[in-house]
Amino acid sequence: MATRKKPEELRSHRWLGVSDLRSFGHRSRLRQYGFDHVDWGKKPVIGIINTWSDINTCHSHLRQRAEEVKRGVYQAGGFPIELPAMSLAEVFVKPTTMLYRNFLAMETEELLRSHPIDGAVLMGGCDKTTPGLVMGGISMGIPMIYVPAGPMLRGNWQGKILGSGSDTWKYWDEKRAGNITEEDWNEIEAGIARSFGTCMTMGTAATMMAIAEALGLVLPGFSSIPAPDSNHTRMSAVSGRRIVEMVWEDLTPDKIITKEAVDNAIKVHMAMGGSTNAMVHVVAMARRAGIDLKLKRFDELSREIPVIANVRPSGKYLMEDFYYAGGIRALMMELKDKLDLNCMTVSGKTVAENIQGAKVHNADVIHGLSNPISKEPACAILTGNLAPDGCVIKPSAADPRLLKHKGPALVFEDYNHMASLIDRDDLDVTADHVLVLKNGGPQGGPGMPEWGMLPVPTKLVKQGVRDMMRVSDARMSGTSYGCCVLHVSPESFVGGPLAFVKTGDMIEVDVPARKIHLHISDEEMAKRKAAWKAPEKKYPRGYGAMFSEHIGQAHDGCDFDFLKVTGEKVPEPEIH
Ligand code: FES
Repeated sequence: MATRKKPEELRSHRWLGVSDLRSFGHRSRLRQYGFDHVDWGKKPVIGIINTWSDINTCHSHLRQRAEEVKRGVYQAGGFPIELPAMSLAEVFVKPTTMLYRNFLAMETEELLRSHPIDGAVLMGGCDKTTPGLVMGGISMGIPMIYVPAGPMLRGNWQGKILGSGSDTWKYWDEKRAGNITEEDWNEIEAGIARSFGTCMTMGTAATMMAIAEALGLVLPGFSSIPAPDSNHTRMSAVSGRRIVEMVWEDLTPDKIITKEAVDNAIKVHMAMGGSTNAMVHVVAMARRAGIDLKLKRFDELSREIPVIANVRPSGKYLMEDFYYAGGIRALMMELKDKLDLNCMTVSGKTVAENIQGAKVHNADVIHGLSNPISKEPACAILTGNLAPDGCVIKPSAADPRLLKHKGPALVFEDYNHMASLIDRDDLDVTADHVLVLKNGGPQGGPGMPEWGMLPVPTKLVKQGVRDMMRVSDARMSGTSYGCCVLHVSPESFVGGPLAFVKTGDMIEVDVPARKIHLHISDEEMAKRKAAWKAPEKKYPRGYGAMFSEHIGQAHDGCDFDFLKVTGEKVPEPEIH
């Protein structure tokens, strides 16, 4: 690194290093905590944004990991301050954590801006926490490093390996089909989440932690380490040491998150067989960095990079196996001819230096590019008269015979309508139908809940059907699988064409051609549009009202319009 910051150039110096009435107040209150003049003034202050809470089981170790980060910060001559932020526990927060991703992004940015902080350690991992923290950190623009919570250990039931989410859906279908008992189901409930840490399938958590590393925001290899592994503890302390150096080096996110780094992240996402949710989050993160990423870039890169990580739901293994097989460094080594190896990272080294010496230890878990685990890509972007701004499908996790399909629509007006009908034996549905869910989008859900893997109707499950074509403006969990067309944009709630589909209309999906088509004439579409009435807004006041007013559509990353990059810098707070 070229120049190093001087202590009086630190952002925190304006709070702590000068001699005036206000700095007296700041220092006297730190003395109230038992600190002394040796703790401040010449040391970078490191803000540790921690999404630990008693309700987020994926982050239950982050309280302890924050202590390990602090140890590293002290070792390197910094001064750590831990700041709690919204925890966003994926399985507990209703209606969906996605409603609050931007809330966490705003909270992160403003916590960092309003306090005397020179560098940030962002601690998260459960689904929306990674993009929320990273979006806020990018917008704040001070040096930052990401500490990923890491995946939990493999689940176990009667000697069978259980994976978060994926096996929940699988065994729920088996229970609905009468193939397993209530007692079996209870045992699965007790065996599927064996330790702290995030979902250990290639869900949104594992995908986004890997993407954060591929972007250059995580120390090499950290994103694959299981949460209970002692290496996770060690890397937390190393991250604490490293952020102090990053402050002196002034290694800010704009020097790391470039167009090339975003491409690297998308390529790693494709090779991992990552979650479809990443399409929304990576667009939002890139745009915070001033990079106008479009959905079509995912499609272009998905044609270039096949799935090589053999991890559920696209593959067979779990994240713990992926780590033992060499983890993300080994996967990136397999991709080395496809990546931009000159990108800078938080380690202060390039991607090339970070992956040097990485090896695959189990070729059945991490395949080579010439031997992918699926002929189908991790994502495809479809367009057509039903989704003029695009929609998403994960072909690698779908039944291949459905990837070219035409069938009659069975329309559910919203989630409750679907839930009231899906188990009925008299539901007029066949395996050829296309299940359509409306009002699951950013405004309609609200928050684009993970309703997109609509359950296969119980009547069909009993006949042995396990996959069918589904179309919605909702998202689906990264742990989900099936032939689900998602993120239809614009959404039905704001009058996108999905709003005009009627039961019995023919819908054609052609993934190889990247097309989705509603077989009605343009005149009929216009007639239905003219007759359509916009639904009432959902929130009269509060955060929900602000969300509805400012949320963007899926293809734009669902960021708030007022948080977009304008080229103007937000002013630093006045200190008086
Ligand atoms: Fe937290 Fe899946 S519930 S990562």
